[in-house]
Amino acid sequence: MKDVLILGIETSCDETSAAIVKNGREVLSNIIYSQIEIHQPFGGVVPEVASRNHVKKISSIVDMAFKEAGIGYSDIDAVAATYGPGLVGSLLVGLSFGKSFAYAAKKPLVGINHIDGHISANYIGNESVKPPFVTLVASGGHSHLIYVKDYDSYDVLGQTRDDAAGEAFDKIARTLGLGYPGGPAIDKAALEGDPDFVQFPRAYLEDDSYDFSFSGLKSAVLNYLNGMKMKNIKYRPEDVAASFQMAVVEVLTEKTIKAALDYKTDRVCLSGGVACNSLLRKMMREKCDAHGIALDYPAPSLCTDNAAMIAGAGYHKYQKGVFAPENLTAKPNLKI
Ligand code: KG4
Ligand code: ZN
Repeated sequence: MKDVLILGIETSCDETSAAIVKNGREVLSNIIYSQIEIHQPFGGVVPEVASRNHVKKISSIVDMAFKEAGIGYSDIDAVAATYGPGLVGSLLVGLSFGKSFAYAAKKPLVGINHIDGHISANYIGNESVKPPFVTLVASGGHSHLIYVKDYDSYDVLGQTRDDAAGEAFDKIARTLGLGYPGGPAIDKAALEGDPDFVQFPRAYLEDDSYDFSFSGLKSAVLNYLNGMKMKNIKYRPEDVAASFQMAVVEVLTEKTIKAALDYKTDRVCLSGGVACNSLLRKMMREKCDAHGIALDYPAPSLCTDNAAMIAGAGYHKYQKGVFAPENLTAKPNLKI
């Protein structure tokens, strides 16, 4: 069978990324320009600043992706670009560039849902991952539990009712003075902390619900910190970070395992930036092993936003002949 090469483009938030992926599984290049340092002084992503920087970078990032892959523009079979969900101004940059590129190169355009991209990261470099499986997609913008029936067929079992898991990590890290992005900072601080120092609430919601809620936990941590401040009691941020992380990870793990058992699947995959979390990986591994469930997660650079995952998702749509209409536009609230 002829190899299929897809150019992926991702600009939904603050990473400008372009990648070339072969047959949905092999990364030939994955160039990621992160704007983290630009947004750091603001403690979070500033949408207008993000889109302006995407405009500055996108052309050279795409060129780098071709150079590193060692191929020419006409060697690709299709262009895959994220069209939602995300920041509308940011999405428009990558999508417009992808459309123009596809038009000029006379190649088809495939529109990709960013969450589909995160899920597809699990196929990259890992031939053994094939649907069906249950996946937890946890990032700065989303927390979903999804039953992946086929490459392009998903049942959303549950999602967050308020904050995304990564968003909670980012907010608590900011309050603890650990910096932005908060996930890696809390992960690191928690290594030096006591996870049993404070028993923060776990929001399991209704017995049969696969939904998540992290806003109550966030308030509980903030109330705890305010109380300590008012009583002038000293605490170690590492202990609070470890206790908070344990509360998030326990709920994510238990709900994911419950879904895998209820849906009788023998494979669980993790996706999204929070899938980099060391405690989540460890606890999920222990629970999956105990139940005889295979566990997979992408390399950290494929968990956080990148274009290889978009090209990977593009491959599966390309194979089915699902191409974007010419009037495809950015959809900031696109659902999976
Ligand atoms: O997938 P991603 O790059 O962007 C979105 O689609 O949102 O995820 C970024 C999120 C941020 O909230 C970041 O704090 C979180 O993933 N994150 C982590 C870790 N690494 C990144 N959260 C917990 N532990 C980590 N090690
Ligand atoms: Zn993402």
